[in-house]
Amino acid sequence: MAAAAVQEDKFIKEEGAAWLLLPLFLLEKNQSIIMAKAIGKGTATSGKSRGSRATGSEASGDTQHSEMSQSSGNEQGQKPLEQFFLEALKDMYGAEKALTEALPRMQEAATTPELQEAFEDHTLLTQKHVLRLEKVFKLMGQQAEEGPCEAMHALIQEGERMMQTTPEGSMTRDAALIIGAQKIEHLEIAAYGGLAQLAITLGEDDVADILERTLNEEEETDINLTDIAESHINFEAEEETAE
Ligand SMILES: [Fe+2]
Ligand SMILES: [Fe+2]
Repeated sequence: MAAAAVQEDKFIKEEGAAWLLLPLFLLEKNQSIIMAKAIGKGTATSGKSRGSRATGSEASGDTQHSEMSQSSGNEQGQKPLEQFFLEALKDMYGAEKALTEALPRMQEAATTPELQEAFEDHTLLTQKHVLRLEKVFKLMGQQAEEGPCEAMHALIQEGERMMQTTPEGSMTRDAALIIGAQKIEHLEIAAYGGLAQLAITLGEDDVADILERTLNEEEETDINLTDIAESHINFEAEEETAE
C-alpha cells in the first residue's frame, strides 16, 4: 500500500473509532447531568413525620423517575420520593381529565345499552376522580397540574382505533371496547394502588384514604366490565359473520 493510502487508512480507523465512541461519551455525559440534577435537589427533610407502614409501590419506573428528576427539580426541601409522588399524581390528574373526554366517545360508539350505561356511569365517576385529585393536591399544599401520562394517552388512542376498525352496531365492537376500557382500568388500578401505598409511606394518611376510595371504584368498574362481557356480548360477538 502506498504511503498516502496507509496514512488515509490509519486516519479512517482512528476517526471511525472516535465516532464510534462519541455516542458512548454523550450518553455518559447526559447521565451525569441527570444524576447531578437528581442529587442536587431535595435532600433536606420537609419536617413532616414520615410513616413506615408500607414501602411498596407499583408506580415507579426508571424513565418516569428520570423525567421527573429533570422536570421538578425546583421544589426546595422536598425528598425525591415526594417529588416522584407529586409527578405521578399529576400524571393521574392528566389521565383522568383525558378520560372525561374519551369515555363519552366510547359510550357513543358502544352497541348495547348495557355497555353505554356502564360508560356513562364511569364518566360520572371519572369526574369525581378528577375532583378527588384536586383535593389531594390541596391537602399537599400544591397546585393541581396535569402531567403527560403517555401510557393513558396511548390506551385512549388504541380505543379510538378499535372504534374505527370494528363494524358499527356490532357486538364485536362492544367486545373490543370492553377490552380497551379494561386496559384503562388496569392502568388506573396499578397507579392508584401504588400511589395509595406511597401516601401511607409518606405519612399522608388522608391522601391515602382518598386514593383508596378511587382505587376501589376502578376495581369495581373492571369487575362490572368483565360481567358485561361474559353475560352475552362475547358470545354474541362470536356468532357474528363478515358482511
Ligand atoms: Fe378514574
Ligand atoms: Fe376508571
